[in-house]
Amino acid sequence: MSQAAKQSSAAELRQVIEEMPASQIREVANNAIGLEGMIPLWFGEPDVSTPEFICNAAAEAMRSGRTFYTPNRGIPELRDAIAAYTESLYGIAMTMDRVTVMASGMSGIMVSHQLLVEPATNVVCPVPLWPNVRGTVDILGGEFRPVPLRLVDQSWQLDLDRLFDAVDHRTRVIFVNSPGNPTGWMMWSDQQREVLEFCRARGLWLVADEVYARIVYGMKHAPSFLEHADTEDRLIVINSFSKPWAMTGWRLGWLITPDRFGKTLEMMNEFNFAGAATFTQIAGITALQEGEEFIAAQIARYERARDLVYERLSKNPRIQIGWPEGAFYAFFSVEGMTNGLAFCKQLVRDARVGLVPGTTFGAPEEGWLRLCFANQLETLNTAIDRLEACLPS
Ligand SMILES: Cc1ncc(COP(=O)(O)O)c(C=O)c1O
Repeated sequence: MSQAAKQSSAAELRQVIEEMPASQIREVANNAIGLEGMIPLWFGEPDVSTPEFICNAAAEAMRSGRTFYTPNRGIPELRDAIAAYTESLYGIAMTMDRVTVMASGMSGIMVSHQLLVEPATNVVCPVPLWPNVRGTVDILGGEFRPVPLRLVDQSWQLDLDRLFDAVDHRTRVIFVNSPGNPTGWMMWSDQQREVLEFCRARGLWLVADEVYARIVYGMKHAPSFLEHADTEDRLIVINSFSKPWAMTGWRLGWLITPDRFGKTLEMMNEFNFAGAATFTQIAGITALQEGEEFIAAQIARYERARDLVYERLSKNPRIQIGWPEGAFYAFFSVEGMTNGLAFCKQLVRDARVGLVPGTTFGAPEEGWLRLCFANQLETLNTAIDRLEACLPS
C-alpha cells in the first residue's frame, strides 16, 4: 500500500480497531492448516464432530420448515430446556425469564460487555485468559485490568486481595472465566462467595464465563456463581453448546441474567445477530436433553489425555506446568524460550505440531505455550515426542 493510501485508510476506522493485534492463534495456524502430517493442537475444540443424534435433530428441523426468524431471545422451547438443565445440574431454581439464547458464547461475552463497558470504565480479570475477552473490552473503549494467577506447587491460584486491589471507582465489571482457558484453573465455591460478596458491596457486575462448566474431572460440573447468587444479583453467566456437546461450529450459547434485563437483551440481540439460527436452537434442545451420555464419554477420554500430557510434560526438568483442574488445555513454560510465537511457527515448520504462544493469553513472560489435549492418546504422545525433540537447547 502506498504511503498516501496508508494515511487516508488510517483515518477510516476507529483507532482502537486499527490497533487491535492480530490473533496469534490464527497467525500460527493460518499457513499450517491442512499441512501433511500436521498435529493441530492450537484451537480449543474436541477432536470429534457433533454426535449424530444432535445433527439429526437439526436436519429434521430444517426439513420440517423450521427455517424462519426466531424471537431475538431464542425459541421458548430452548429457553425452557436451558432453565430445566440449569435447575437439574445445580439443584437451583431457574426460570426461562432469566435465559437468553445467544449465537455463541463469544456473542454472549460481547453483548454482556456492550451492556456494561464504555470509555472511562474498566474490567478487572484474572489472567492468563482467552484473548477474545480483552478484545471486546478494547473495542468498546474500556480498560482491561489483568490480575495474574500465580503458579504455586503446580497449582494455579488467584490471590483475592490482588483482585480486589485492582478495583477502583472506574471498575464496572469483574470478569471470571472458570474453569479457565488456557490454564485450567478453577475458582472454588469459597472464593466465588467472596467475589460475589465483594461485587455486592461495591455495586459491581460479575460476568462469569462458564463455558467449560462441564469440562471437569471427577465431578459433574464446576462450581458456578449461580449456586450462590440471588436472582436479582448483578450477575451474568455465559454458557455455550460448543465444548460439552462438540458443537463449536454451530454457534450457539446462552446467558443467564436477572430477569429485569429481558427486554434489554431482546433489543441487544436484535442489533447484534437478530436471533440464533432456528434449527441449531432445536438441536440444542436435543443436546441438553439427551447429551449426558456423550458428555460422560468425552470427559473420560479427556481425563486420560490430561493425565498423559501432564505426566509427560511435568517429567521434563525444563518444563513447568500447572495442573489443569478443568477445561482441556495444558499450559506450560519452557526454560530458555525467549520468543513463544517464533517457537510455535518453528514447531509447525520442523515438527508439524500446532501449539499457541502463551503471550496471546496475557502470560506475564515469554516461554509459555498452550496445548489442547482434546485428542487421541497416540496423537498426543507423538506430538509431545516431536515437541521435546524441538525444544531450544
Ligand atoms: C473462555 C472461553 N469463553 C468463551 C468461548 C467461546 O466459545 P463459543 O463462541 O464457541 O461458544 C471460548 C472458546 O474458546 C473460550 O475459551
